[in-house]
Amino acid sequence: MVNTLEWTEAGVVFIDQTKLPTEEVFVTCKNYEEVADAIRTMIVRGAPAIGVAAAMGVALGARDLKANSIDEFRRGFDEICKVLGGTRPTAVNLFWAIRRMQRVFDENASKPVAQLKQILIDEAKRMHVEDIEANRSMGRHGAVLLPATGGVLTHCNAGALATAGYGTALGVIRAAVEGGKNIEVFADETRPFLQGSRLTAWELMKDGIPTTLISDNMAGWMMAKGKIQAVITGADRIAANGDTANKIGTYSVAILAKEHGIPFYVAAPFSTVDLETPDGSKIPIEERSSKEVTHLGGKQIAPTDCRVENPAFDVTPAKYIAAIITERGVAKAPFGESLKKLAAEPTVIGASK
Ligand code: MRU
Repeated sequence: MVNTLEWTEAGVVFIDQTKLPTEEVFVTCKNYEEVADAIRTMIVRGAPAIGVAAAMGVALGARDLKANSIDEFRRGFDEICKVLGGTRPTAVNLFWAIRRMQRVFDENASKPVAQLKQILIDEAKRMHVEDIEANRSMGRHGAVLLPATGGVLTHCNAGALATAGYGTALGVIRAAVEGGKNIEVFADETRPFLQGSRLTAWELMKDGIPTTLISDNMAGWMMAKGKIQAVITGADRIAANGDTANKIGTYSVAILAKEHGIPFYVAAPFSTVDLETPDGSKIPIEERSSKEVTHLGGKQIAPTDCRVENPAFDVTPAKYIAAIITERGVAKAPFGESLKKLAAEPTVIGASK
């Protein structure tokens, strides 16, 4: 399994996702500012991976803080959390992870600073392990929903690269294949950042899972031709009513799936569920640089000064979603009730919410 990110004494090591699939380069972020830059520039991306990266960034920053009192230490810690919290706005896992680190800080603030630093490092490492376990659990819950034989469409990259390992949507696909299902994955290329072609196709091919790359505008035709039996994507934030923010283009895929009578599934850890956000209209959508749209591989493909919109995510209304697969179980409509019920369930892996 590809090592998306790892805590080391030298810093947090990431596989540089901006260089894939042609170069497998690892970068070491030696301080929390470098971790924040890695999140901002999408060296690391994907909601759960962003969450774990942020936790490791907090731990790294805290480890290197020089403070003479707990008050001074807390001021430095708050600044680290603020910088990391300002990197990307949509994936709620980022804020969930920072809040969890803040809680651990508060619970242990009376301990000697050296011990507190070690507790924060241990917590970040625990989140890494828990994320992989959550993905495996999602795989167990979700595999039964996929067809015994057939095509499964996915959008963006919700794989090992988007998580600490194994993946959410791709984890469910992996579990189904490991369980003997005969699945062919159709990977949308996912303009403009091309997570589908650069990352999903790369990691599935590494695993030997049959994968066909299509450009985004081919999805409807593939469905019409009977090549797709299910759609599964990840999520960046799931509102209390089930409305789901995910990579731009997911909304169109969900509507296409509905029109063709194909189930559209979302797989995400419970840390992606944001019960404080009542519905999708309240989810902040990140707007990224116009250059991602006007340029491809460094080459200009639009007129100079062309007006551009580049929302990085869209929101799929809950009514298009057949089920939300989490590590705690599968939620179905009405999601307002089923998600609340899952929130009350103890997680299989002891992760706190
Ligand atoms: O902009 P990105 O690449 O961070 O967006 C990633 C996605 O939209 C993923 O589908 C989502 O984070 C789920 S990853 C398990």
